[in-house]
Amino acid sequence: MNDEVTVFAPASMGNVAVGYDLLGSALDGLGDRVTVQRLDEPVVRIGSITGRVTDLPTEPADNTATVALRSLRDAADIDGGFEVSIEKGIPLGSGLGGSAASAVGAVVAGAELLPGSWAQEALLPHALAGEAVASGDLHPDNVAPCLFGGLVLTRAMDPPDVVPIPVPSGVRCVLVHPDRVIPTREARACLPDSIPLSDSVRQTAHLGAFVAGCYRDDLALIGRALRDLIVEPHRAALVPGFADVQEAAMAAGALGCSLSGAGPTLFAWCRGSSDAEQVRDVMVEAFTQHDIPTEAWISPIPPKGAHVVAPTPADP
Ligand code: HSE
Repeated sequence: MNDEVTVFAPASMGNVAVGYDLLGSALDGLGDRVTVQRLDEPVVRIGSITGRVTDLPTEPADNTATVALRSLRDAADIDGGFEVSIEKGIPLGSGLGGSAASAVGAVVAGAELLPGSWAQEALLPHALAGEAVASGDLHPDNVAPCLFGGLVLTRAMDPPDVVPIPVPSGVRCVLVHPDRVIPTREARACLPDSIPLSDSVRQTAHLGAFVAGCYRDDLALIGRALRDLIVEPHRAALVPGFADVQEAAMAAGALGCSLSGAGPTLFAWCRGSSDAEQVRDVMVEAFTQHDIPTEAWISPIPPKGAHVVAPTPADP
């Protein structure tokens, strides 16, 4: 058995507009590299935090990765412990699943260092425990796609019931990250405790139609359904220029445009790469009109979730 394992855990997008707290997709090209080392001592600790975010908590009770690993260690009932080093590739407070990636990467790597084999479903509760430290709540819509890959709907967490949903092959996700930080905890505090039954009915119709559109490869139906009627109205004001960026994306042919997770990143699903390039350009331009610098990506929905990158199968 190895003493050290490194996992790449992809960025992810929670909610996907239609499914607050239950639907999420993995994203391509951005992610955290998480290295876990086996220790003889019964502790779980941080080794290092490097990359594009370094000012994260290092207290084991406050860091998403160590909390997730502590939970895994308790479940495995082992004598030893773990040291985790995180190379952050995901911007902080961006709505791109940074805390989930560190938690998922840690448990996927940690499980490789334990006796026996651990199913992905068995790792989900431990990653969720880590994610909850960052957002103050148990929500699976970043952790599940980061772990399983693709577009997934979490019907229930205990026991986990995670449903993969097919994505029409040409679909590309534009992500435009304005230079702002919104802590998920704060974005959740903006939301009401309850919503009118009529709003729930309308949003459920959109979620059902969106899922049907994905199964039927029906981009027109996806384009009619990809709307957030219940959360976006409460959070849009957190992102300067939101309405202009969304309007520009839709006018340029996006299937739908809303907040990625809790924001401030905005996403737009598009029919293909060439549409996505046009949509990205107008979204970036709309933020520029508000004097807000951005970073932008175009991502397919990758089928693969967090996976071991070292040692590679060829390594001794
Ligand atoms: N579903 C979560 C939220 C995602 O919207 O608060 C956080 O990235």
